[in-house]
Amino acid sequence: MDLRKRVHVFRNREETSAFLRRRWSEISAESVSRKGFFAVALSGGKTPVPFYTSMAETRIDLPWERTHLFLADERFLPLDHPDSNCRLLKQTLLKMRPLPPENVHPVPVETTGLRASARRYERDLSRFFKVSPGPFPCFDLILLGIGEDGHTASLFPGSAALTERRHLAAPVVLDPVRHHRITLTLPVINHADNVLFLVTGENKAGVVRKVVCREDLSLPASRVRPESGNLDFTLDEDAGSQLTRQECGAS
Ligand code: 6PG
Repeated sequence: MDLRKRVHVFRNREETSAFLRRRWSEISAESVSRKGFFAVALSGGKTPVPFYTSMAETRIDLPWERTHLFLADERFLPLDHPDSNCRLLKQTLLKMRPLPPENVHPVPVETTGLRASARRYERDLSRFFKVSPGPFPCFDLILLGIGEDGHTASLFPGSAALTERRHLAAPVVLDPVRHHRITLTLPVINHADNVLFLVTGENKAGVVRKVVCREDLSLPASRVRPESGNLDFTLDEDAGSQLTRQECGAS
């Protein structure tokens, strides 16, 4: 396996956002010139909010008309619910730069059930990427976070979705407080050209060390290993505080 893993530790959150904007710009330009569009899957949570907001506010020239936005995971809630990831993106990244409506691909949560929603999202993905069935779609970029328990997207430790090998999207049943979810599966994530983790804050230092050093494969984030794509960890100093250069190859 040709795993191109890089670890970037920045002084603060602003610097992590600036780095991600540069990477987004490079990857989108390259994707559009190679095949005419840029497909990106984004995560929710609190960590990426400053980055999404900075993307909306910064005057960088990006191929928005050719950008297609998907969700790495979504809560099974109406799209206008305060905890919806799609709503989060509309209020941050897309606030000042609305994309053509057909370029935004929310998880179809307005269905009769969680499983049906996952199947419909899978169908939307297959149609967009023109894969059916068998091969996995190749996202140009997937942006992921890491929870303190090592989950990423909505792949939680011990969850059945972690073992999914065939489907592109999977339903995830959680307790009512955390809401049920729909998540991209590991084969899709590991098929991407670029996977970027963004993790900030001291409370994540321990889990970041385990994931970056791959000590513990029971942590879903440790199972993210793009087959032939790039894997980048974008950290602030707090999240990277338990890494040593030698041990983890941090830059
Ligand atoms: C979500 C995510 C999830 C998130 C982590 C980290 O929608 O919640 O996709 O995987 O990235 O839970 O969340 P924080 O950034 O809030 O710590």
